[in-house]
Amino acid sequence: MADHTPESTIPQALGRSEPGSSPPPAHRGGRWRLRLRVTWAVTSIILTESVILGLSVLPAVSFWTWVYQWRMIPEWAQVLTMAMAFVPAYVLFATSVLLYSALVTRLFGWRTRPGLALPLAEMSWPVLDWGRYLMTIHVARTFAGPVFRSTPIWTVYLRLNGATIGRGCWVNSLKLMDHSLLEFGDRVTIGSDASVSGHMIEHGLLKTAPVRLGRHVTIGINSVVGIGTTVGDHTQVGALSVVPKHSHLDANAVYAGAPVRCVKRGGVRVNDADSDDVA
Ligand SMILES: CC(C)(COP(=O)(O)OP(=O)(O)OC[C@H]1O[C@@H](n2cnc3c(N)ncnc32)[C@H](O)[C@@H]1OP(=O)(O)O)[C@@H](O)C(=O)NCCC(=O)NCCS
Repeated sequence: MADHTPESTIPQALGRSEPGSSPPPAHRGGRWRLRLRVTWAVTSIILTESVILGLSVLPAVSFWTWVYQWRMIPEWAQVLTMAMAFVPAYVLFATSVLLYSALVTRLFGWRTRPGLALPLAEMSWPVLDWGRYLMTIHVARTFAGPVFRSTPIWTVYLRLNGATIGRGCWVNSLKLMDHSLLEFGDRVTIGSDASVSGHMIEHGLLKTAPVRLGRHVTIGINSVVGIGTTVGDHTQVGALSVVPKHSHLDANAVYAGAPVRCVKRGGVRVNDADSDDVA
């Protein structure tokens, strides 16, 4: 559907003034407040990530130092042991990153709130909190994601970081964002590199809505699931599919394509003519 936002309201919504015109004094005060907000948000995220990563490196370095101090073995064996200790030290580090990241977002209340439709350029507090939440997720998935994706540890992290995830779920993707807006039933499988997120930026607006997947749902590899989507129990979304925002996919069905169409319902093939049913 066409976007009916009048052209003239867009510069205002984005906090811009017309070329050549000087901003009114109240607006100038607003700009300073905006700069302060952004500076504080950036500083706080840098400090927070320094603490998270610093605390996470600590057990790894302690472990390595302990191995280094084994003086009773010959030097070549010491070098070999140090090399062998790299992987367990990294696993210790990555586990700590996940735990501290989840703890920090919980402690500070950094979450993606549902139902937002806010101009990004205004950088209001809900937008900045969202940014800090996503940045923390990004750091966690960069350092720990490649080690733990598709393991129960990754699912535990998603839960600790705000997601509602049932039993026996497998998430083989690092492209899950806005964890606080994800609700998965039991035995959900997220295929490799599928993108499931609770936010979208459209026309300069940050829009958010929960994504709800029923029990035994599978999202095919490399698919994209839009915000506000609900998927019924026992439904499969095919590989490389696109589920448009605010879609409702029926239970016991197979959907595929970009955008998705229903290809099977209750195990029975659906004709092209009958398949235009994504609400
Ligand atoms: C969607 C899927 C489940 C359908 O499997 P199925 O039930 O055996 O159905 P079929 O293979 O008989 O295909 C049914 C129709 O859907 C189409 N189709 C199947 N997969 C499709 C896809 N990914 N994109 C577009 N169309 C697809 C087929 O071409 C066929 O179309 P037709 O009726 O016009 O001939 C399967 O093709 C798929 O994509 N699986 C992905 C599994 C996955 O990624 N798992 C994640 C963990 S590895």
